[in-house]
Amino acid sequence: MKKRILTGDRPTGKLHLGHYVGSLRNRVSLQNEYDTFLIIADIQALTTNWENPEQLASDVREVAKDYLAAGIDPNVTTILVQSMVPQIAELTIFYSMFVPVNVLRHNPTIKTEAAQKGYSELMYGFLGYPVSQAADITFCKAHLVPVGKDQAPHLELTRRIVRRFNELYGEVLVEPEGMYEGLLIGLDGNTKMSKSLDNAIYLADAPDEVLRKVKTAVTDPARIRKDDPGHPEVCTVFTYHNEFNKGFVGELETACRKGEIGCVECKTRLAARLNEMLDPIRERRAHYDAHPELVDDILQTGTARAIEVGAETLAQVKEAMKCNYFVAAGSVPPGRHRGRPLQGRS
Ligand code: TRP
Repeated sequence: MKKRILTGDRPTGKLHLGHYVGSLRNRVSLQNEYDTFLIIADIQALTTNWENPEQLASDVREVAKDYLAAGIDPNVTTILVQSMVPQIAELTIFYSMFVPVNVLRHNPTIKTEAAQKGYSELMYGFLGYPVSQAADITFCKAHLVPVGKDQAPHLELTRRIVRRFNELYGEVLVEPEGMYEGLLIGLDGNTKMSKSLDNAIYLADAPDEVLRKVKTAVTDPARIRKDDPGHPEVCTVFTYHNEFNKGFVGELETACRKGEIGCVECKTRLAARLNEMLDPIRERRAHYDAHPELVDDILQTGTARAIEVGAETLAQVKEAMKCNYFVAAGSVPPGRHRGRPLQGRS
């Protein structure tokens, strides 16, 4: 049996190059080696967007299209929608019994996010979303979780929940390993490419949009004229070449330091390289844009499989937590009795 991967995203709009570098690229290359589950965490998106839920339906589909466009193969990877798998919500409740509130309060990613959003009070769902994320990861007993570094506190909590669960109730859950990728800097040189910082290039951006954005990227401020010597180590565009255009960086570094290549040319070459990389992604996206019914079908099929897998784990969890009152060994599962009176004792 293949080992399992579970990872995913909050649907808050289209995915960008930061998502691609941080995790999507990895998922595509690992999907044949691992039984991969990708979760579109729409409930987690609600923890910060509960006031505008009307965006969710289209955001869920945009993320699905980005996955498929980036090369996720729906025949080998299971894409699921979090809110449609009730077992995840149930597991969240069971785990919440033994997660101390203080551990959540001190979670650095929660703190950073709360500060960024300017929350003066924390909602129960927001504070608790790392517990729900533990349910996302454990419903399918994932072994490996490829994510950006900012997710480390959440994964550590998941590991802690698994260990505690197994210690309290018996070995049921699998403790997952994290696989961390670095963050991609934003066009403005900010440490993180992100939608909310408005410094992102989206996988779905058109070629001229990519060129326009690359032209706005922050470069070495000491370079005023084309033949001024450059400092690639402080240049955003150089960082991107280093990430996406490995074959060119040696030559570029020398030329930049000697002032032999101007920023305009350097940017034009980056945009060309990005567009070359994004072209097949755009092509696949166009196919799914033209056939939205395919996307819906993929999501429903993936979610159905997730429900099956989740039901098995939930049954084991309930049994371990002694909440399986009417499931005696060998008896008919309770659902089958629906519509018929339960057997009396007469
Ligand atoms: N918290 C992740 C993010 O903000 C999204 C996510 C939800 C996730 N559930 C997950 C990531 C499970 C990995 C595993 O990007």
